[in-house]
Amino acid sequence: MTKQKATNVHWHHGEISRADRARLIKQRGATLWFTGLSGSGKSTVAVALEQRLYEMGHLSYRLDGDNIRLGINKNLGFSAEDRAENIRRIGEIAKLFADTGVITLSSFISPYREDRDRVREIHGAAELTFIEVFVDCPLAEAEKRDPKGLYKKARAGEIKNFTGIDDPYEAPLNPEIHLQTADMTLEEEVETVIGYLQQNGYLGEQ
Ligand code: ADX
Repeated sequence: MTKQKATNVHWHHGEISRADRARLIKQRGATLWFTGLSGSGKSTVAVALEQRLYEMGHLSYRLDGDNIRLGINKNLGFSAEDRAENIRRIGEIAKLFADTGVITLSSFISPYREDRDRVREIHGAAELTFIEVFVDCPLAEAEKRDPKGLYKKARAGEIKNFTGIDDPYEAPLNPEIHLQTADMTLEEEVETVIGYLQQNGYLGEQ
């Protein structure tokens, strides 16, 4: 758990509430947290979902591992400690986005259950929706796809601590949504997520 370093800091409340924002943009915010191996299809499904939500008139925004690691998290690597800090920061950012009313699509390997559970906790404490989406793909299939050629490098010993090769991946025990990407089309994956959001009232007007 990261310690609070600054002292004498207090949350400052504004005059506009989350409910006010929801009425303004006619939707409620939520975080969809895509977790899975590199090459499992997290970013692909998030991109397609963002497009589908847009066509339906909903505002969403993607937070993506590689993009975030090129910016705010450029000082972090892939040790367990750095991955934890990566997820902690993204979790806080996702929480802020969800609070604005945006449907936030976070795609990070996020290999450690404890780190993901902490993101779930901070959302729960803020009464914000957190939906864990397990982008489940067998290692052999992800390795066959190898879209960035990274598995090949990891097998050759050119990348150390690569998830699934010489670093762990802890699958979710109870994800809200389970996508088996080796057996589903992209359309089926998108419709599964949309169906979940509709059935649970997340896409209704305020
Ligand atoms: S996480 O483990 O901290 O959640 P994150 O999703 O941000 O990882 O970044 C993973 C991306 O970084 C992969 O898609 C891949 O492109 C790249 N990468 C580089 N080195 C590694 C590594 N050792 N393990 C996993 N991914 C890596």
